[in-house]
Amino acid sequence: ATEQLIDPFGRQITYVRMSVTDRCDFRCVYCMGEDMTFLPRQQVLSLEEIQTIAKAFTELGVNKVRLTGGEPLVRRDVITLFDGIGKLEGLREFCVTTNGSQLRRYARQLKDAGVNRLNISLDSLQPDRFLRLTRTGRLEQVLDGIEAAREAGFERIKLNAVVLKGRNDDEVHELVRYARDRSLDISFIEEMPLGQISEHDRAETFCSSDDVRALIEPYYPLLPTTESSGGPSKYWRMADSNSRVGFISPHSHNFCGDCNRVRVTVEGRLLLCLGNEDSLDLKALLRRYPGDIERLKAAIVEAIVHKPERHHFSNDGDVQIVRFMNMTGG
Ligand code: GTP
Ligand code: 5AD
Ligand code: SF4
Repeated sequence: ATEQLIDPFGRQITYVRMSVTDRCDFRCVYCMGEDMTFLPRQQVLSLEEIQTIAKAFTELGVNKVRLTGGEPLVRRDVITLFDGIGKLEGLREFCVTTNGSQLRRYARQLKDAGVNRLNISLDSLQPDRFLRLTRTGRLEQVLDGIEAAREAGFERIKLNAVVLKGRNDDEVHELVRYARDRSLDISFIEEMPLGQISEHDRAETFCSSDDVRALIEPYYPLLPTTESSGGPSKYWRMADSNSRVGFISPHSHNFCGDCNRVRVTVEGRLLLCLGNEDSLDLKALLRRYPGDIERLKAAIVEAIVHKPERHHFSNDGDVQIVRFMNMTGG
């Protein structure tokens, strides 16, 4: 691409994360309220609109696309979207973040579409606890989905675990062992204050990355690395394994300085930062000027001027972000 997206702080945007549906078959306690209602179809981008937006971004120098949700694999016909995006010129990394529940059915098709990185959420290895954390999820199905992904031959599979004090912090080392045994990477995530949730008080369950690291060290000593996936994860290694252990610490470590990403919500809002509501309505533009990719690109270029320097999250109770994670896809 000849064009590039560079923000006022000199950061080049090469990565776009797109939520393809707000729906999910799970109701994770940190992500949604129990009685979550989902958007009417009209308000959600069509698969064609998502494809057009992804194309516009790759023409602006974006070389990495991640599809997220909600749960991307519960959207009908989503594989046609994967096939389309996989064919975009200039795409170097094609990634998916999934809860794993549908992977037995779709892993092979994702691989064939050109997906080369798969992130799978896994917060517990105990079936009853997994059910309490996800409210509807069956652990066995997800573990089988992970196996299906391995069988399909994905090279880099990363597990994601959100750690909540008193709920799954005692399992952290077992999650590491599970990942090690299968040569998977694993990242531990600090909970972020997106959306008003009812089940726990985020200030009480908060578990910092340093806390989590201290829980792992007695079992598996961690060696620091300078490796980067170009994202917020800080990686550590173990002497006797090729698995990496990552920490995503929006609270305790600030990683905004080399942020390379923007997001497109399920409603087609271009969000410039996860912790901020500044956005541009790409859906309105696309519906007014269907298929006009040049106009779309011009609007995106203009929007990047407003990318904020950093997020301002806190877990002290005053939630400023009303949007839930499933709108944004993390
Ligand atoms: P890469 O970006 O490809 O390294 O993957 P990732 O680990 O960031 O993506 P994934 O979808 O697996 O997200 C894991 C967690 O990281 C989620 O909770 C995301 O919300 C969080 N995350 C990803 N990017 C950002 C970011 O720019 N800012 C913040 N605060 N959190 C992020
Ligand atoms: N804080 C941190 N991570 C979250 N996720 C969902 N909601 C939150 C939150 N409030 C995680 C999921 C998944 C990833 C995409 O985002 O567990 O692994
Ligand atoms: Fe679904 Fe992911 Fe939210 Fe859990 S965290 S409810 S799996 S979108």
